[in-house]
Amino acid sequence: MPKPFYITTPIYYVNDKPHIGHTYTTVLADVLARHHRMLGEDVYFLTGTDEHGQKIEKTAATRGITPQQLVDEVAPNFENLWKHMGLTVDYFVRTTHAQHKATVQARFLELLAKGDIYKATYKGLYSVSDEAYVTEIQAKEMQAQGLAHQLVELEEESYFFRLSSYENWLIQLYERYPDFVQPGFRLNEVKQFVSPGGERGNLQDLSISRTSITWGIPVPNDEKHVVYVWFDALLNYLSACKDGHWPPQVQLVGKDILRFHAIYWPAFLMAMFREAGDDLNGELPARIRKQLPETILAHGWWLMGDTKMSKSLGNIVRPKELLYFGTDAARFFLLRDMQVGHDRAFSFDAFMDRLNADLANGLGNLAARSISMLQRYRAGVVPTPIAFDEVDLEVQSYLSRVAPEYLKKAEAHDFNGALEGLWAFLRHLDGYIVKAEPWKLAKDEANAAKLDTVLVLLYRALRLAAVLAAPVMPELCQKLWESLGLPGAVSDLRYADFDVQGLAPGPVSDPKPLFARIDKDLAMTEIEAIKIAEMGAAPVVEQPLDVPPLKENIDYDTFAKTDLRVGLILEAEEVPKSKKLIKMKVDLGFEQRTILGGIKEAYAPADLVGRRVVVVANLAPRAMMGIESHGMLLCASDNASKPYLIAPPEDAKPGFNVR
Ligand code: MSP
Repeated sequence: MPKPFYITTPIYYVNDKPHIGHTYTTVLADVLARHHRMLGEDVYFLTGTDEHGQKIEKTAATRGITPQQLVDEVAPNFENLWKHMGLTVDYFVRTTHAQHKATVQARFLELLAKGDIYKATYKGLYSVSDEAYVTEIQAKEMQAQGLAHQLVELEEESYFFRLSSYENWLIQLYERYPDFVQPGFRLNEVKQFVSPGGERGNLQDLSISRTSITWGIPVPNDEKHVVYVWFDALLNYLSACKDGHWPPQVQLVGKDILRFHAIYWPAFLMAMFREAGDDLNGELPARIRKQLPETILAHGWWLMGDTKMSKSLGNIVRPKELLYFGTDAARFFLLRDMQVGHDRAFSFDAFMDRLNADLANGLGNLAARSISMLQRYRAGVVPTPIAFDEVDLEVQSYLSRVAPEYLKKAEAHDFNGALEGLWAFLRHLDGYIVKAEPWKLAKDEANAAKLDTVLVLLYRALRLAAVLAAPVMPELCQKLWESLGLPGAVSDLRYADFDVQGLAPGPVSDPKPLFARIDKDLAMTEIEAIKIAEMGAAPVVEQPLDVPPLKENIDYDTFAKTDLRVGLILEAEEVPKSKKLIKMKVDLGFEQRTILGGIKEAYAPADLVGRRVVVVANLAPRAMMGIESHGMLLCASDNASKPYLIAPPEDAKPGFNVR
């Protein structure tokens, strides 16, 4: 019986269009799924969509359709993308599936009966913009950021999960089974959260139902409540598991949702799998550990420069742009350039450089040269080597090390390292060709045996590269496989059955070009066009306006105390070390002022010079980052958008009153 291998991605919110983050996680999962198939395991690969919640409810209402109609319309954005990319997803789960709902309800009732879920009144500060209760610390942070108006005190009846009771078992899970979260530094973050500085008693029970939302899974027998977010979403991994595949071996998550997966999720499972007589204050039974995911693998984020990608900044990389160079190229780049766990800055320049260096040159060039030499010098027939000199022996021994090293890194989920190692070997072969000079050997019959050796070693190296890289670049490796004259699908091979030194079953074919060199300027122009078309496309789900409630009325005199003027920006520069601030010199007609504005995320200094703005001119001066700012620029925005400077017309003179 092959060993089961169950791998999952997070289920994606349908209120967003797929982007590089979703693509990265799902591609990584696909590479792992393919890799484990080649290890001979019985793979089950699950992904899907997370479809409940207030945002869906609101958007559906504004469009005059039901939430179900809305999610049915947008969930295929994900499912079709994975199909289009040829990902080997075994099942696509949706939280609106009847089977998922039934699982959530059944598990809810089970935990209610066990006492792990109870009903109580929840009282606390609620953030209107985040649609979530906030802790005292979060509330203080929000107040310090001037967001106090978003906090309201709410009192609501809610069902709670007794998370606090699982603290002891959770801590043991992290201590005794450190592979539960990879990489290790991410496990430390989780430990710090559960017991900061080793302190106990920090985990609070978790509210898992809402009465303020209707678009969710009803709590059985108490239908004014719906199950709230994580108890619904996390249970997809259980509701959509295939028989015989529990528990998951690898669950991929981004660092932002690690806590939910490394704390709530195992605690839910512990509650479900514990039996009468198990002592929550005693040892975590090995029997229960066996029911929990083996590893939660937390990856970092693709960034733009050193900032987050976000809709408001308009810098999100979309799958269409990534796939411009082909699916395999995108897969290769995503795996080769990201070290799992860390963040990584994305740039098209680095993307294209990587493809040119490693696929057009690198592998592509080596394959074309080697196969055409086999054709030219040996009519395509792969010879049997008999003579090895020192350089050949070195390559021969390197060749035998490549696969074990690659597979060891892949087992540790380090594809960045694995691919780096494989490509270092390919570069070594380039050097080998230069040293061995096969074109010279070919001129003299006396060197025939020597030439045979060079050609065979190159052939074997390429065949090995096709096998090892097949999970990462299935199509490209299949092309290479066929060019080498090998039968069937490389992906159907099992690593264990593959013999690096094995004889060639037949002659090589014509070398198929693997990857065409990219003309970077041309490619960039076309990608820009794709980007513009993508941005113009209507958003999947209209985000509801995220603004605080209207303030109370004031009388005219109060308003009239504010002196608003037209200003003209003369100079602008970034404030060093500040993420937000730009320092500007603004002409107010009657004087020039230094004004600081928190608009760095939205405007580059060079784009500000020459702009007309509206200035609150009688605001008392205030120092920020050691610079005195006198006045404030008016901007329009909601809490989710970037600030848009209010712009008076071009013929309004600096100093004009705004009233
Ligand atoms: N619905 C929840 C997950 C529930 S799982 C039971 C959710 N969905 S999401 O669509 O917002 O995010 C899905 C994943 O995308 C997260 O793992 C997140 O880390 C990842 N990414 C979002 N932006 C990203 C990058 N820029 N780079 C890499 N991954 C990022 O959260």
